[in-house]
Amino acid sequence: MNATNGAVETDTTPYARSRPSRGHRDFGFSRAGGARRSAPSARPVAGAPATPQERPASRYRPGHDIVLDVEGLKTYFFTYDGVVRAIDGINLQARARETTGIVGETGCGKSVTAFSVTRLIAEPGMVISGKVLVNGANLLWGLEREAKFRKIGKTGRVKVKRRFRRIREANDRMSAVRGKRVGMIFQEPSQAMNPVFSISDQLGEAVLMHRGVEVLEGLLRADASFAVPKDLGHEQLTNESGEPGSRLSWASAEIAAVLAAAGNREELRVAAKALADRAGLPTLATEVYYLLADAGPGAARRQRRVERALLRVHLSSWQRRYLRHRRRLAILEQALKDVYLREMVQQKSQAFARRRLGVRMLFERWGHFYLRLPWIRGWFEKPLKKEMFWRTVELLEGVRIANPVQVAKGYPHELSGGMLQRAMIAMALSSEPGLLLADEPTTALDVTIQAQILELMRNLRERVGTAIVLITHDLGVVAEVCDRVNVMYAGVVVERGTVQEMFRRPLHPYTQGLLASIPRFDQPGKDLASIPGSVPNLIHPPPGCRFHPRCPYAMPICREVRPIPLEQGEDHMVACHLYNEPLEATAEATAVPVEPAPIPA
Ligand SMILES: Nc1ncnc2c1ncn2[C@@H]1O[C@H](COP(=O)(O)OP(=O)(O)OP(=O)(O)O)[C@@H](O)[C@H]1O
Ligand code: SF4
Ligand SMILES: [Mg+2]
Repeated sequence: MNATNGAVETDTTPYARSRPSRGHRDFGFSRAGGARRSAPSARPVAGAPATPQERPASRYRPGHDIVLDVEGLKTYFFTYDGVVRAIDGINLQARARETTGIVGETGCGKSVTAFSVTRLIAEPGMVISGKVLVNGANLLWGLEREAKFRKIGKTGRVKVKRRFRRIREANDRMSAVRGKRVGMIFQEPSQAMNPVFSISDQLGEAVLMHRGVEVLEGLLRADASFAVPKDLGHEQLTNESGEPGSRLSWASAEIAAVLAAAGNREELRVAAKALADRAGLPTLATEVYYLLADAGPGAARRQRRVERALLRVHLSSWQRRYLRHRRRLAILEQALKDVYLREMVQQKSQAFARRRLGVRMLFERWGHFYLRLPWIRGWFEKPLKKEMFWRTVELLEGVRIANPVQVAKGYPHELSGGMLQRAMIAMALSSEPGLLLADEPTTALDVTIQAQILELMRNLRERVGTAIVLITHDLGVVAEVCDRVNVMYAGVVVERGTVQEMFRRPLHPYTQGLLASIPRFDQPGKDLASIPGSVPNLIHPPPGCRFHPRCPYAMPICREVRPIPLEQGEDHMVACHLYNEPLEATAEATAVPVEPAPIPA
């Protein structure tokens, strides 16, 4: 046990026991590398119940279905006004094929939790301690070596000395996890997108980064599998004049026949897909479809467009060489990511393997250094760029954007908030991550689109087995899609349980307040309830239970002792002094009378 702000709390951090280094003073929170000041003991409170048993430290076991296991996570912001304790020792789990909701008022620390898991907390913030296990890999491994802290006098301010080499190493390691293993939909897409690159550049880069080997192999395979009719000789095939007997003439004739029959858009789709199958390049279907959809009825014009699209299937020998080189680099990068992942799983440095791969990558790059000249590379890269563009269009189609070609060509500032959010969702879903952190993914969307996006996420969950962490204000969305819910208040999780349990038997007064503020159609004329007051300033959070200034059931103990999370039945945890005994034993004495909340439509 240690103490923060005079309130007793449980310290489950793995670093609490590590040896303190010399020359550092603690300033009220634990972090290895900083010496720990002896914690002032909490004064015993008259009538305080015996401290209940804490939940087991971790439930993660290899092969178990818990994809994300967060333990004792603390994230602070070191501002000029003082230390903002945005996340103060939370525990959280997300299981495969389940959606775990995080709800709470604004400023409760929902987004900071998601950013901490992906290690995207920017200055002046830092993850201070805790464990974030994703499929057994500890993403916070080596955290204690990344910074030193020193308290400045009695001002409450803290000086942070960051070790940038260590932080860079951690960022490199995170490249093995972000995207493919942990995807994130950001709350503010306009801030998450780069304004100087087009949408297709940004989405294409994400695809190339996470599925590069697959994309490059597909491109290299396409030409070989493009069936050439036996009656055309090699000389005829290499003639690009466009006359009969040229390289594309056979294809044009075939396509003209097929596409002439394609009267409406559905038929056009089918014909384009047949052509792409023949060419062995799936994105060709999207390209031909959109090229012909606005080509007008002229057969010659349609034919020319198809021929132009087909040209990218025929790679020159230099382009082929370049793509092979890119594929080798992508394979090496993948191998390096595997090494990083092993480091995080075994919590042991694999410096030798990393160095060896680094040297090989260096040779691979220098072996083709002339390809790194932009004007040469641009030409070799043409087929790859086109492939990425049409892949982007497919992704945008997947999130129901009506004009995906224009959106793919556009820049973030040219899109509406909803469109940008959908582009962001497309980017996060493209790598089919094992864990998806969705930070208010549907807030900027129309209700009709909301349902479609939630359906997309549900599909991903069923197909890939993704564990989804859904951050939202909308309790209707929670009731609709979540299996479990975590209620956050002022940087701590105050209640957790299955969605049915939380709506039928909310225990924490804060959860009850949130549920009471849902409009009820079955009680017309009834005033909406609201929770008085607002979320406290997290530089000076209230001691004891952080909710006590707003709680109608506050007791003296609540002002002094921080409640410890306690299981109340299967899969239901609550941190409140009203439930310091298992509920069954003291139900009549302590349970707060509450009307069951309606499950919102
Ligand atoms: N860069 C920062 N500097 C200082 N404090 C910060 C910073 N970012 C977040 N915080 C603080 O962290 C706390 C949690 O913020 P967070 O963004 O996680 O809230 P939230 O629950 O996501 O709210 P919302 O529902 O409005 O998105 C807030 O008190 C906020 O003031
Ligand atoms: S611990 Fe006390 S103040 Fe906090 S929610 Fe429970 S009753 Fe209210
Ligand atoms: Mg937020």
